[in-house]
Amino acid sequence: MTAVTRAIINLDVKGPVISRHIYGHFAEHLGRCIYGGFYVGEDSEIPNDQGIRLDVVEALRGLNIPNLRWPGGCFADEYHWRDGIGPKAERPRMINTHWGDVEENNHFGTHEFLHLCELLGAEPYISGNVGSGTVQEMSQWVEYITRDGDSPMVALRKQNGREEPWTIQYWGIGNETWGCGGNMRPEYYADLARQFGTYCRDHGENRLYRIASGANVDDYAWTEALMKTKGDLGCGCGRRRNFFQAVSLHYYTYEHHHFKKGKATEFDLDAYYLTMANAQRMDELITRHSNVMDCYDPDKKTGLVVDEWGTWWDVEPGTNPGFLYQQNTLRDALVASLHFDIFHRHADRVVMANIAQTVNVLQAMILTDGDKLILTPTYHVFEMNKGHHDAVSLPVHVASPNAIREVDGKTLTTLSVSASTKDGQALISLTNLDAEATQSVELDLRGLEFTVAGARILTSPALHDHNTAEHLDVVAPQPFQSYEHSGHRLRVELPAHSFATVQLDVTAEATS
Ligand code: AHR
Repeated sequence: MTAVTRAIINLDVKGPVISRHIYGHFAEHLGRCIYGGFYVGEDSEIPNDQGIRLDVVEALRGLNIPNLRWPGGCFADEYHWRDGIGPKAERPRMINTHWGDVEENNHFGTHEFLHLCELLGAEPYISGNVGSGTVQEMSQWVEYITRDGDSPMVALRKQNGREEPWTIQYWGIGNETWGCGGNMRPEYYADLARQFGTYCRDHGENRLYRIASGANVDDYAWTEALMKTKGDLGCGCGRRRNFFQAVSLHYYTYEHHHFKKGKATEFDLDAYYLTMANAQRMDELITRHSNVMDCYDPDKKTGLVVDEWGTWWDVEPGTNPGFLYQQNTLRDALVASLHFDIFHRHADRVVMANIAQTVNVLQAMILTDGDKLILTPTYHVFEMNKGHHDAVSLPVHVASPNAIREVDGKTLTTLSVSASTKDGQALISLTNLDAEATQSVELDLRGLEFTVAGARILTSPALHDHNTAEHLDVVAPQPFQSYEHSGHRLRVELPAHSFATVQLDVTAEATS
């Protein structure tokens, strides 16, 4: 007989709001993410708007993507924004030394990126160049984009065809400055973050949300160095502001580690469970970085931005090793759903997360094959979880011991649940990581009356199942009926390796 796991959710006891920006994205000048993925150029036969692929835009609009981080990644710290403005034929070429050593023609630059964001309805997140750029260069980029009226940068923007300034909040001060972004020591970078943060001005009504380049995985000393020097700036004008408003964290999921990544579509059960245990580590990392942040910022005013996360596998055979092109299976989808539960649980500190990367690179939402477009299993998790955007989190208490598996000295809990509420509805996300067994979950939903408005499931016979141009819907959401509602209890039978969402209509009436 299958054991039943009991979980309690108080529908009327509210936690912090889950920022929609947890469902953010990342697009780098890397492989076929920008060129061929987002951007095909005006002369392409693929339908486009000023060179931007319309099928990609339409698919991403289905996710309500809240923000898009650009131009890197490592590329950001060798990108000089002035090379990417003005007539395309006159834009200088460069070599993308990080990613494939290929030529970058700069045809996709600031105007193209901000136009893409407008098409997507997403907020831009620009990662500025600290590693090989100057303070002046970054300061002028902010001025070029956000200032109104007249100034040298405004005049240049207008000359390039854009009268009105754009609005932008999210501004990254370098990327992985402990590594590809300059190989700096934390104290040195912390000072640079203050310096660059100072000259990234708020022009007019625009208010920047400056994100300092944060820790690699478990480098808690890096977070501490940043928090220690973050400080308050008394600017002598009656206003106080911080040099930066958030720090970032990067953590990727591999089968083993960076030098033993594993294959995207060929893996055995041990490799699967190892992957899941590694994915679950995100919880520990956020907890411990948050603990460090709490010491300096107990009111949690400084955000933690997980601006790179996701699976990283060996590249697909026959593709450029520098292009990081990988397939995406049901396993990737479960890594994603697990991450979202973790981010929801830490909604008090995690204000944004950006999966790496949106199209054709690493754990992508979309793969393109010429004019064809493939939605990956990961895409479907983002879509099924849309109801959590800006919803109020509902803490989930797993009352009976959650199913546990020992994996290579690590403990993996194989049931993951999170919930939120907004607009008279509640959304419950459930992931069964057990690769072989169904899990019965009894949800005890207290506090308010509810009816089940609908449920969907994402699963497939095999964990390595994935979608291709020939078979687009091998892994796609289906209606889900394996639940029973009785009073305030909802019993759900979660098949092996599956992700399900249950939507409730909630009434304001308290249950007795
Ligand atoms: O996402 C790929 C790379 O991973 C990024 O460029 C870099 O920031 C990270 O190391």
